Amino acid sequence: MYEIYLRSFKDTTGTGLGDLQGIIDKMDYLSDTLGVDAIWITPFYPSPMADFGYDVSDYRDVHPLFGDLATFDRLVARAHEAGLKVIIDFVPNHSSDQHPWFIESRSSRDNPRRDWYVWRDPKPDGSPPNNWLSVFGGSAWEWDERTGQYYLHSFLKEQPDLNWRNPAVRAAMFDNMRFWLDRHVDGVRIDAAQFVMKDPAERDNPPNVTGLPQAHKPMGAYDAQVHLYDKGHADVHQLYRELRAVLNEYEPPRMALGEVHIFDWTELASYYGRDLDELSMPTNFGLLKAPWTAAGIRAVVDGLEAALPAGAWPNYLLGSHDDRRLATRLGEHGSRQAAVLLLTLRGSPTLYYGDELGMREAEIPPDRRQDPWGMTEPTLGRDGCRTPMQWSPDPTAGFTSARAPWLPVGSDHALRNVESQLADPDSHLNLYRRLLRLRRRSPALRIGSYRAVDPVPPECFVFERSSEAERVLVAVNLADAPLSVVVAGCAGTIAVSTKRMHEGKAVEGALQLAPHEAVVVV
Ligand code: GLC
Repeated sequence: MYEIYLRSFKDTTGTGLGDLQGIIDKMDYLSDTLGVDAIWITPFYPSPMADFGYDVSDYRDVHPLFGDLATFDRLVARAHEAGLKVIIDFVPNHSSDQHPWFIESRSSRDNPRRDWYVWRDPKPDGSPPNNWLSVFGGSAWEWDERTGQYYLHSFLKEQPDLNWRNPAVRAAMFDNMRFWLDRHVDGVRIDAAQFVMKDPAERDNPPNVTGLPQAHKPMGAYDAQVHLYDKGHADVHQLYRELRAVLNEYEPPRMALGEVHIFDWTELASYYGRDLDELSMPTNFGLLKAPWTAAGIRAVVDGLEAALPAGAWPNYLLGSHDDRRLATRLGEHGSRQAAVLLLTLRGSPTLYYGDELGMREAEIPPDRRQDPWGMTEPTLGRDGCRTPMQWSPDPTAGFTSARAPWLPVGSDHALRNVESQLADPDSHLNLYRRLLRLRRRSPALRIGSYRAVDPVPPECFVFERSSEAERVLVAVNLADAPLSVVVAGCAGTIAVSTKRMHEGKAVEGALQLAPHEAVVVV
């Protein structure tokens, strides 16, 4: 799966903002040049853009900045023609405060839609009903002067939380999902999937006495609490069983990739459902939290593999529109190792646009900041990973004809762009292309089993993928020194390496790895 941050992929109208037609125009790049199997498109719905589209004011239309329903239909048809599946973002936890439902809900206490959102009385002293915090800073409760109550917003105050305990909300939101499934989308990425169900008693969260971040990255003031009661209540599972049943109304059944940030593998596994009847795949951010060492990486993979119910299919990602760029976090060597791991581990990988070029986190001058989170907590801002896709060395990176794209183009675009990297056999892009090609023709890599190989030097992570007909060995040297790895019965050819000059070499018994090298032996 390839995540397209729509606003930054390709602008065809000169607004400085990416659009749906841009994806259509780049379909050959996606299906052939790069060779992915599916695209996930971030929100394109009408929205006041307080959180850049994750504040939806109409779940059944396209924002005119991005195109219209006819463009969307053409996109799906063109993607299917090219053999790509289409996954769209579905944002269930909250709507925009400009959604007609919320406008009605806040109009009076006895409005029939009052209970579509979460309204509560203040405490006797006028303070919010409990201590819950907004992910983006401050209390999760916003006071509404006119009706004299607070409403809940787990994110911005412009993103009021829907009340999923109200059956009418469920029915309406499932119908909104059907609206797109009827337009032949192949799956949904469920935004903030843990948040939809909170503690019905709305208890205070306990303080986070360790002070350590609970997610894969620091979250500022939000880290002051253990988020025990403001998300992930046990009845979330019943909800996802219902949602899955909606996806199963279609033939073939549609897919749900649910955004969760869970690092306890048993809890993560619970989101698949005991009978694999909940999320098709809860997202796995484990490799973003793990120390980038052989032991750190292996602990994530083995931990998840051991916790998964039989038949569950893992997934891995190493970047997203919410995280610092992969190549900035891990550097040149680490991001190449990451490419090999992402595309050879058992499961469905999600590749974030531009990571195939090794795009770095961009420096955003304060007066060009866009992300509301970055406005309140500059170190947490997400603009640096959302800059325009770098198609060419041009001043606007071939992204737009406008003089100024909505976010500045990364300063590395002359070096890291599709055009230049296609011409360089050793580039990041060509490494991804070779890996994707190998994966496509290798049943072991696509669907084979996983087994870690032991014993190996401690700086090395080695595993085997095997199907009935094929055995593939993957070895990653995390050390800054050459290593020799002896694997019983290992014989084959280096099909892909982060050091291209080693490709095609025969291997027998011992595998010689250069410093930082990752190889796939077939
Ligand atoms: C998810 C999205 C993020 C958004 C938030 C609120 O975490 O990935 O971009 O800001 O939900 O919708």
